[in-house]
Amino acid sequence: MIKTLEWTDSGVRFIDQTKLPTEEIYVTCRTYEEVANAIRTMIVRGAPALGVAAAMGVALGVRESQAKDHDQLQRDFTHICDVLAATRPTAVNLFWGIRRMKQKFDEVSARPIPQIKQALIAEAQRLLAADIAANQAMGKHGAVLLPSSGGILTHCNAGALATCGYGTALGVIRAAVDSGKKLQVFADETRPFLQGSRLTAWELMKDGIPTTVISDNMAGAMMRQGKIAAVIVGADRIAANGDVANKIGTYTVAVLAKEHGIPFYVAAPFSTIDLNTPDGSQIPIEQRSPAEVTHLAGKQIAPDGVQVENPAFDVTPHQYVTAIITERGVLREPYSESLRSIAEPSLPAE
Ligand code: MRU
Repeated sequence: MIKTLEWTDSGVRFIDQTKLPTEEIYVTCRTYEEVANAIRTMIVRGAPALGVAAAMGVALGVRESQAKDHDQLQRDFTHICDVLAATRPTAVNLFWGIRRMKQKFDEVSARPIPQIKQALIAEAQRLLAADIAANQAMGKHGAVLLPSSGGILTHCNAGALATCGYGTALGVIRAAVDSGKKLQVFADETRPFLQGSRLTAWELMKDGIPTTVISDNMAGAMMRQGKIAAVIVGADRIAANGDVANKIGTYTVAVLAKEHGIPFYVAAPFSTIDLNTPDGSQIPIEQRSPAEVTHLAGKQIAPDGVQVENPAFDVTPHQYVTAIITERGVLREPYSESLRSIAEPSLPAE
């Protein structure tokens, strides 16, 4: 399995996603500031991976803290969490990961400092293992929804690289292929950062899953030609009413799918569901650098000084979502009820 991120004695190790697909290199972040920088610069990206990266950043920061007493450690902890929380605004998993570390910190805060540090490292590692398990469960729940053969369109990268392993949307595709389904994946290239052509194609080819890269503007024609049997994507935040924030361009794909009568599935773990945000209009959308749009692989492709918009995400209204696949089961409309139903305390811990 691709190791998107892992805890090591020297720090948090990431596969550098800005270098894929041409170079497979790994970077080790030795401070929490370096982890924050890795998140900002997209060395690590994808909502579930961001949640665990942030948690590991917190564990690393606390491990490196020179605090001599509990008050100082508490101040250091709060500062570390604030720095990591200020990296990227849309993926709610990032805040979830930090919140889980805050809960653990509170739980163990009366212990000696070395034990607190150990407990935080163990918690971050537990979150990593839990994320992989959640993806595998999602795979099982979702695989049955995909057809026994045909084309599956996906947008951005919701694979092993966007998680701690296996993937959400690509996890469902992996599970379907493992169960004998003959699927052909169509990967939108996903302008401007090209997560589809660079990352999705790379990881699916590694697994030998048939993959065709298309530029984003080809999706409609492929659907009209009958080449797409289903669409499956991941999510960065799902509001309480089922509205889904995901990579910019997802909304366009959802509208096209509805027009062509093609099911549109979203695969996401419980940590992506934000019941505190009532609907998609309240989800903060990250604006990224204009250079991502005006330049391609370092080459300028738009005139100097032109105005640019670069929202990194869009919101797909829940009416376009056929089902949401989670590790706790498959949810359907009305999402305002089904999303709440899986938040019951009787269910397995997050
Ligand atoms: O900007 P990115 O690459 O972090 O955006 C990632 C996405 O939009 C993914 O589709 C989403 O996080 C789901 S990942 C399982």
